Amino acid sequence: MRVLLTGGAGYIGSHTAVELLQSGHEVTVLDSLVNSNVESIRRVEQITGRSVTLHIGDLTDPAQVEKVFAQETVDAVVHFAGLKSVAESVSQPLEYYRNNIDSTLVLLDAMARWDVKDLVFSSSATVYEPDGSNPVAENGRVGLDLANPYGRTKAMIEHILRDLAAADAGLRVAILRYFNPVGAHSSGLIGEDPKGIPNNLMPYVSQVAQGIRDRVSVFGDQYDTPDGTGVRDYVHVVDLAAGHVAALAGLRPGVEAFNLGTGRGASVLEVIDAFSAVIEHPVPYEIVAPRAGDVASSFADVSKSKDVLGWEAQLTLEDACADAWRWQSGNPDGYGTS
Ligand code: NAD
Ligand code: WQD
Repeated sequence: MRVLLTGGAGYIGSHTAVELLQSGHEVTVLDSLVNSNVESIRRVEQITGRSVTLHIGDLTDPAQVEKVFAQETVDAVVHFAGLKSVAESVSQPLEYYRNNIDSTLVLLDAMARWDVKDLVFSSSATVYEPDGSNPVAENGRVGLDLANPYGRTKAMIEHILRDLAAADAGLRVAILRYFNPVGAHSSGLIGEDPKGIPNNLMPYVSQVAQGIRDRVSVFGDQYDTPDGTGVRDYVHVVDLAAGHVAALAGLRPGVEAFNLGTGRGASVLEVIDAFSAVIEHPVPYEIVAPRAGDVASSFADVSKSKDVLGWEAQLTLEDACADAWRWQSGNPDGYGTS
């Protein structure tokens, strides 16, 4: 089938494009390139030997979205497009609400007009209102009492999708709640290409390993965790990508949410140690104050994804570090200015 990937030039979208193409699907991408580079699509084509139809356009613009649906026979949509910086969402909330919510409404309108009923949506573990318990299952509360506007855009979209499915029995929606996506494709050709200073741990560690930055700032070591540093569920992006293929195959009428994680937590120091083992020298770090809004620990209950979708993460944190390093060291400037 032909799958439209909104935001398909980005980190998770490009890896998912590879998995979809390698599973025999056709891929169309609609991306404004606001946080990505056309080179990622060329690399996807290089890895797979298949072509991708790329439309450069903004999903908040109904005319541009209409053009894509008019030109292509879309069978299903995976909706990755969105702005994702937690810190930026705090300083520029309107931009986040407008981009993430408007783009989704424009997309859903177009899907209704073109009678496209199948949708997979990129949500986040951040939609769970933290209550300190782990592992987190899909029936955890998704409300608006969250630490930042970014998370609220995701929670709102989840509610919008449920309202829409209540009004249209033909819709088939999978909401995928990613935990912490990390790593890169094993070819070293595609990976995460953050603009400016990375917000997330793994790309920051990679840039320290490369010598681009001096040391990792570890945000607090007094949490109630085994070594005092924050614990997260780091899931390899190639596993995550395979989760989208499984979600598309498993779509059923209505809306169903699935956690995509490994089910295991790793601390900040464990990530730094795993990366140090890959590069065979210690990644320098210092302990600094905790970051506002962080929780001590978050990892997924993955039993529903396994039971219903038949999906489970295969790759380890060590695989993710090795693949992140292959990507980082082979592409020190990311996709560059190409
Ligand atoms: P990314 O920034 O690499 O990819 C998002 C893509 O969407 C980019 O290519 C960007 O150019 C595009 N985009 C943004 N706004 C657009 C618009 N209005 N019109 C067209 N294209 C637009 O991010 P990613 O890490 O690949 O994340 C993909 C999705 O998964 C996002 O929705 C993100 O919020 C969600 N998510 C990411 C993580 C993570 O840690 N990476 C975790 C949970 C959820
Ligand atoms: C991981 C751990 C930090 C950077 C974020 C978003 C979430 C989702 C994934 C999109 C924490 C620590 C980090 C650093 C550090 N994104 N850390 N030094 O915060 O779990 O999740 O990305 O949906 O919404 O909030 O990921 O990679 O930022 O942090 O010590 O320089 O690493 O405190 O314990 P997080 P992260």
